[in-house]
Amino acid sequence: MRVASKKRFAALWITLSIVSVAAAACGSDEPDLPAANAAEVWDFLQAANYQTDWELWPGTTERFVGQEPHGALHTVYANQVSLDAVDSKAGVLPNGAFVIKDNFTPEGVYDVTTIMYKVDGFDPEHNDWFWAMISAAGEVRAEGRIEGCTACHGAQAANDYIWIGPLR
Ligand code: HEC
Repeated sequence: MRVASKKRFAALWITLSIVSVAAAACGSDEPDLPAANAAEVWDFLQAANYQTDWELWPGTTERFVGQEPHGALHTVYANQVSLDAVDSKAGVLPNGAFVIKDNFTPEGVYDVTTIMYKVDGFDPEHNDWFWAMISAAGEVRAEGRIEGCTACHGAQAANDYIWIGPLR
């Protein structure tokens, strides 16, 4: 009797340990968010394999015909934080949201990536977006609070500076 209950206790203890180890492992699947810095953001995106593992912005296709000044063909990726906000019609994207646009030449050559990354407190006047433009080879062409980006995307300020689709 006493042996049996000891065994049961041991089984429970092992089960609890497995659950807590699994929970810790799940947590570590989500790497820390990068700082508002293009090189760190680029490393984060490469490690996340955004081009293969992230979903396209809802309702869009790969290499759709886009508008100036973003080059001829665009593919727009969103991370899960962004997708959840779109799904719930949140109206704004939260801290940690990424919207990544790969821009292609008319011939379909991958040319440059333009990035919007939401960082709490980074630029309160413009909804805290960190902007970056990075060449296909990983060379940072512009980053930070980029006036050109906020000015044009500012026409969509009521939609959290997002052109591609409504957030509510
Ligand atoms: C003259 C206007 C204009 C400027 C300047 C501009 N964009 Fe855009 N951007 C657009 C439009 C329009 C779209 C919608 C997609 C399309 O082309 O169909 C877009 C889409 C995007 C998207 C996909 C999310 C969305 O809002 O639809 C990202 C990311 C992006 N731009 C980043 C940037 C960055 C970074 C800069 C500055 C380096 C920049 N943009 C400068 C007009 C602009």
